[in-house]
Amino acid sequence: MAYLENAWYVAGWDDEVPQGGLLSRRLLDKPILFFRDEAGAVKALHGVCPHRYAPLARGTLVDGMIQCGYHGLGFGADGACVHNPFGAPLKNMALRAYPIVERHSAIWIWMGEAERADAALIPDFGFNDPATAWVGKGYLTVKAGYELEIENILDLSHVQFLHPTTLGSDKVSDGHYAWKQEGETIWSNRDIKDEMMTPQLASAMGLVPGTLADRWVYVRWNAPANMAIFAGAVATGRPRDEGRETPTAHLFTPETSRSSHYWYAIAFPKSMGAVGEQMAQEQVDFLRAPFELEDLPMLEDQQANIGNRDFRQMKLGWLPGDAAGARARNLLYARIDAEVGAKSA
Ligand code: FES
Ligand SMILES: [Fe+2]
Repeated sequence: MAYLENAWYVAGWDDEVPQGGLLSRRLLDKPILFFRDEAGAVKALHGVCPHRYAPLARGTLVDGMIQCGYHGLGFGADGACVHNPFGAPLKNMALRAYPIVERHSAIWIWMGEAERADAALIPDFGFNDPATAWVGKGYLTVKAGYELEIENILDLSHVQFLHPTTLGSDKVSDGHYAWKQEGETIWSNRDIKDEMMTPQLASAMGLVPGTLADRWVYVRWNAPANMAIFAGAVATGRPRDEGRETPTAHLFTPETSRSSHYWYAIAFPKSMGAVGEQMAQEQVDFLRAPFELEDLPMLEDQQANIGNRDFRQMKLGWLPGDAAGARARNLLYARIDAEVGAKSA
């Protein structure tokens, strides 16, 4: 399966790569090894030793160098072989190094041509900046392809059916729904009136549980699958600027064509003080249950039914809420096709 390569993907939360430690993760069907250099910057190298294909995750980090755990070849942060216990370093045994940017609590990796890795292309997740926000962070791996995840987040009509006691209510389907494309960004926006939200959702949005509310849920997508939901609520009939908007991040990176990494987060402003810090942790813990116990099993069963077939080629039904996800996938596929075409030209 072809992936979009010239794009920023999330590779992990910033705290998943400790100083002195190694993190091994499969992204886009490639084994990647993450570590920090002596200055603390995250580095990413191809995770397999070119000598006899040993996984470098079985190696060690020695003075900023990755030493293979099999015969001891050593590789610097730029991937060059810098150490050979049996002679001079082997110039033809370099590892691919991937551009990395640490931003907004996440580690971003560029999987394509390194000279095109422009940090300005990373979508804005400034609401997750630990300098200004309390960020509650979670992570799941899902045995379902990332295209199913894109559609799941872009079509929140499912919350009424899949999350009736956690995130949804029967008012969702009566809400006003509209989607739009702004450049390469897709928005999928839902406005729900006179809703009785679950107590946890109400308190996340600063409302006393039991308050009848007007809720807005605006989903933003950028390729490949970097998504945000800007959700807020006010007591029914009150102006929106009286409400609190609570943004969440939903960041997906393919592990394989049939499995995905899912990093999710919820952010509260630092100005809320200790209350905000506590809410960030409580709310991210609350979100884990619907994501893990409701979305994940559904997505994994969808993938099991799809099997190895290419989702892009499958005959699908059509509901009004599918439009945004279909447009997002088409934008993604057009970019993938352009890359594949450029390679074969
Ligand atoms: S496999 Fe890595 S040094 Fe031999
Ligand atoms: Fe869901």
